[in-house]
Amino acid sequence: MGKKILLTGGLGYIGSHTAVELFHAGFQPILLDNLSNSRVDVLDRIGEIIQQPLHFYLGDVRDGKILRQIFSEHQIEGVIHFAALKSVSESVQQPLKYFDVNVSGLTQLLQVMQESNVKKLVFSSSCTVYGQPTDNWEVSENTPLQDPMSPYARTKRMNEEMIQDVCHTGFLSAVILRYFNPVGAHPSGLIGELPLGVPANLVPFLTQSVAGIRQPLTVFGNDYPTSDGTCIRDYIHVVDLAKAHVAALNFNSKEHSPEVFNVGTGKGSTVLEVISSFEKTTGLTVPFSIGPRREGDITAVYANTEKIQRELNWKSNYCLDDMMLHAWNWQKNQN
Ligand code: NAD
Ligand code: WQD
Repeated sequence: MGKKILLTGGLGYIGSHTAVELFHAGFQPILLDNLSNSRVDVLDRIGEIIQQPLHFYLGDVRDGKILRQIFSEHQIEGVIHFAALKSVSESVQQPLKYFDVNVSGLTQLLQVMQESNVKKLVFSSSCTVYGQPTDNWEVSENTPLQDPMSPYARTKRMNEEMIQDVCHTGFLSAVILRYFNPVGAHPSGLIGELPLGVPANLVPFLTQSVAGIRQPLTVFGNDYPTSDGTCIRDYIHVVDLAKAHVAALNFNSKEHSPEVFNVGTGKGSTVLEVISSFEKTTGLTVPFSIGPRREGDITAVYANTEKIQRELNWKSNYCLDDMMLHAWNWQKNQN
């Protein structure tokens, strides 16, 4: 049996895809989730893909008792910490909830890891820590970080700094992955993103709108200084992103300092390019209209991926068309 890796938030969108890729790479994923933003049947779906049941603990990452139980029942080699709240708008309304789950959650996890002498951490950070880059839309890991634009972004910035401080003590060996915009779903159509209520993100809103569950899509602004006036993001297939976690676990980061990697394709796409990619690959029409800008949106950002290619030997394989096709396959399987 392979090395045991704890995935907090393991039934969520990125955690579930990572569980599959870890298993294929010979690891043994152990999942913890409080189901605050996921459903327990995802466990069966993962099992169907890998043809194996996985260990699952129902519990909260802020609960030291369950963490101690997991570390005593299994020899855990490393932890991938996905469990967090991720809605930018909700974080503005309820910042304390975000500090509690995202900041206290990581504090508790690191405390119990230290007690249990588990030294390896891979952490889910976000391109949101870059804010709107001032000089260049392409950001590398050395691009200066801007002041956080939301409490959510602040929690990710704080999390990165906490990890840095704990690494300095010499106990922790950490990789921080700054995800760009994860989209798409597993090619099997069995797992994907499960947004609660009206999706705030582009791709789940788009697919739900094509499925007739939502109103036509509103494109938030076409007067940005980009090629077609709409915002630019670096969309990354969730399976490619999941594979970056396997590479991160296999990487021996320096002691005393976390290693940070951008995880994106390195290519920016406008909102209108996303829509035409969807229409081209599915043959369907996306109902949309142009609306006003969304408050807080940045104009453009995409990843410089040289560091992750060089040091983790990872690069994305799926293109935007694949992302759209798989997102639509997944949407069609929902009822
Ligand atoms: P998700 O909501 O689908 O997954 C998070 C999982 O964590 C959910 O299953 C949820 O039930 C669980 N969870 C939340 N609070 C918990 C707690 N206190 N204890 C135990 N489990 C808890 O989100 P995701 O898109 O898979 O995101 C995973 C991580 O990646 C998060 O840290 C998120 O901030 C980060 N991230 C996501 C994106 C994105 O666009 N999806 C981009 C950058 C970074
Ligand atoms: C993408 C583009 C919108 C919806 C957010 C978080 C970020 C990270 C990823 C976690 C933008 C446009 C969207 C719609 C639209 N998450 N859009 N109509 O804003 O880049 O990033 O998710 O860390 O922190 O802020 O992603 O999918 O919301 O938007 O036109 O109905 O689509 O303006 O240009 P975003 P998004």
